[in-house]
Amino acid sequence: MPSRHVVRPAKHDDAAGIRAVARASWHAAYDDFLGPGTVERMIERWYALESLERAIRSPDQHLFVVDTSDGCQERLLTGFVHVGPWPDGPATLGKCSRLYVHPGQWGEGIGTELLERGQATLAQEGYHRVRLEVFEANERGQQFYRGRGYTVSGTETERLDGTNRRLLLMEAPLRQ
Ligand SMILES: CC(C)(COP(=O)(O)OP(=O)(O)OC[C@H]1O[C@@H](n2cnc3c(N)ncnc32)[C@H](O)[C@@H]1OP(=O)(O)O)[C@@H](O)C(=O)NCCC(=O)NCCS
Repeated sequence: MPSRHVVRPAKHDDAAGIRAVARASWHAAYDDFLGPGTVERMIERWYALESLERAIRSPDQHLFVVDTSDGCQERLLTGFVHVGPWPDGPATLGKCSRLYVHPGQWGEGIGTELLERGQATLAQEGYHRVRLEVFEANERGQQFYRGRGYTVSGTETERLDGTNRRLLLMEAPLRQ
């Protein structure tokens, strides 16, 4: 039976489902260059349920999830996007902090739908541009954003699990 899905704001009890999508997507996308051990440790650190619940509650952060029904009773999360202000940036600069789709659903248009929902939310809130960080080694992610109007605006280095990792900053204008 074909799957149906709805994109909706995340609820308090979605935190575990969001973390499950992140874990599967991080392993599929990042194991090659971060290694599975680092991926597990970063998921524990960056996707702690309390911090996700805080982000879901926060008035200036927005999390949207893809809720997929199998046509019967079961509902599963298969993707999420997290947007908000760019910390310490100009008031018109928004941030797309996270965009992840379960690898079983890659290539079905869900990532594009989530990105557009996040961008539309930022635009409605008065942001003019959106910026995000993507691992330099994540070529598929960069290609995805390039195909959606993003260009590289800088680089940075972040220490993750004891190793320095290169990140690209990518940004795009928001349709007002
Ligand atoms: C990047 C990501 C969010 C895209 O989500 P998605 O649902 O696969 O996106 P879409 O289906 O809307 O578009 C997929 C794009 O990848 C291409 N694609 C097609 N099949 C694909 C597949 N099996 N796997 C990956 N990409 C595929 C498509 O051609 C499309 O690009 P194009 O329309 O510009 O040609 C998803 O791959 C993901 O979660 N990746 C891991 C995490 C990540 O890199 N996040 C972004 C950086 S933080």
